[in-house]
Amino acid sequence: MKTSKTSRRDFLKLTTATSVLAGTSTTLLSRPRMTGQQSFSANNRIQIALIGAGGQGQYDTQEALKVPGVELVAAADVYDGRLIHVKERFGSHVSTTRDYREVLADDTIDAVIIGTPDHWHKHIAIEAMESGKDVYVEKPMVQKAAEGTELVAAQNRTKQILQVGSQRVSNVLYEHAKQIYESGRLGNLNMVEAWWDRNSAVGAWQYTIPADASPETVDWDKFLGHAPKRSFDATRMFRWRNYQDYGTGVAGDLFVHLFSGLHFIVGSDGPTRIFATGGLRYWKDGRDVPDVMLGLYDYPATDAHPEFTLALRVNFADGAAGGSGFRFVGDEAVMSVGSRVGLTRRARRTSPGYTINTFSNEAQKAFLDDYQSKYPGARQELTPTEEEYFSAPNGYSDTLDHFQNFFDAIRTRQPVVEDANFGLRAAGPAVLSNVSYFEKKPVRWNPKDMQVTT
Ligand SMILES: NC(=O)c1ccc[n+]([C@@H]2O[C@H](COP(=O)([O-])OP(=O)(O)OC[C@H]3O[C@@H](n4cnc5c(N)ncnc54)[C@H](O)[C@@H]3O)[C@@H](O)[C@H]2O)c1
Repeated sequence: MKTSKTSRRDFLKLTTATSVLAGTSTTLLSRPRMTGQQSFSANNRIQIALIGAGGQGQYDTQEALKVPGVELVAAADVYDGRLIHVKERFGSHVSTTRDYREVLADDTIDAVIIGTPDHWHKHIAIEAMESGKDVYVEKPMVQKAAEGTELVAAQNRTKQILQVGSQRVSNVLYEHAKQIYESGRLGNLNMVEAWWDRNSAVGAWQYTIPADASPETVDWDKFLGHAPKRSFDATRMFRWRNYQDYGTGVAGDLFVHLFSGLHFIVGSDGPTRIFATGGLRYWKDGRDVPDVMLGLYDYPATDAHPEFTLALRVNFADGAAGGSGFRFVGDEAVMSVGSRVGLTRRARRTSPGYTINTFSNEAQKAFLDDYQSKYPGARQELTPTEEEYFSAPNGYSDTLDHFQNFFDAIRTRQPVVEDANFGLRAAGPAVLSNVSYFEKKPVRWNPKDMQVTT
């Protein structure tokens, strides 16, 4: 097993939300002036724009603006109602447009947050980097695995900072889980299970469609972009996750978070074999993606981890409570990661036990005499379960930490925690789960080269 490494942050020092914020702002202001493509002094502001001002885009912006020295100057969205609300929420000084290209043409903007539907991620991210912007692009980084190579190449070519928005990679709980994993306390990891179940209409992507949605308030062609042409359809627009043309199904939406978290914690590049199955079992509302999906993934042994198997699950018709989490199963302990990190260990008995009651009485007696002499303390041997738990401070926001990491990288030109390579190594197996599901066959993937193999 790996030995413990120095972590990026010392989780144990982060005892309250206040100290998290105080710590980050001190870090920011004490950073030296950076060298690189762009230049910000410690007091210079970073001017950002939001492209795709829906639920996540607005939330991302709210958290990004908590980082000192960051200012929202523009927003682009294809639905007018969202642009109106950007001004209501972030100030009337924010300039708004239906056309994201106007944002990219504005040289005063340093960085963009891309919160559009998945089918736009690659296109806007590449255009943004080519126009000299640093990019925070929401997960999944790409809609199709093949798009990832182009995006990675664009990041290498332009040298712009690109952070993918799976914020759990910056979460102090995941950092703590990583430390536990690297300490070797699980023994040898042999499998990982992770799930994300839901039990509500909104959880299953039946989002509210605004009453004023129409071809007048929506630039439908700009929503469609490279997707197949069709006439205006408010359901497709506001519930885009339900359609393969714009979204990535439950795998791209939720498996991707699980891949990101797993890869961060165990230091993995990803699986070599991908197999997914499932079906559309409950939400038969016209969607063309499954609402129940199970995925199985082979992870080969590397320097960071032994060979293990990953099992993922999403169920949108979970008739109990829903919920999400991980179990990292080692031969000496099990680590759970959810709203807190847990470590559970029950040592195996040192005596092997026996199954003798079908043997002759004489054989049983002979066995017991021998056993008791070999293991005299066996009857009294107790193996209690030991449990430990770790929680994040109240009010903790991993999205804020993820943005802090992004803006630090913009100022220092140092790498982010979740660059294009990391993003593709999570999005690749996630969206290839869809290929496996629809084509009903396993897919082989080279996680180092980030390519499908035959
Ligand atoms: N990191 C997370 O935890 C997390 C959570 C939710 C969503 N997301 C991701 O964020 C992205 C957005 O999801 P959402 O739930 O906010 O969806 P949403 O539908 O609420 O928002 C998407 C917005 O993009 C706009 N849009 C569409 N095409 C556009 C274009 N060409 N130019 C500008 N704007 C355009 C839409 O009008 C809409 O306002 C998705 O990729 C999703 O996977 C991430």
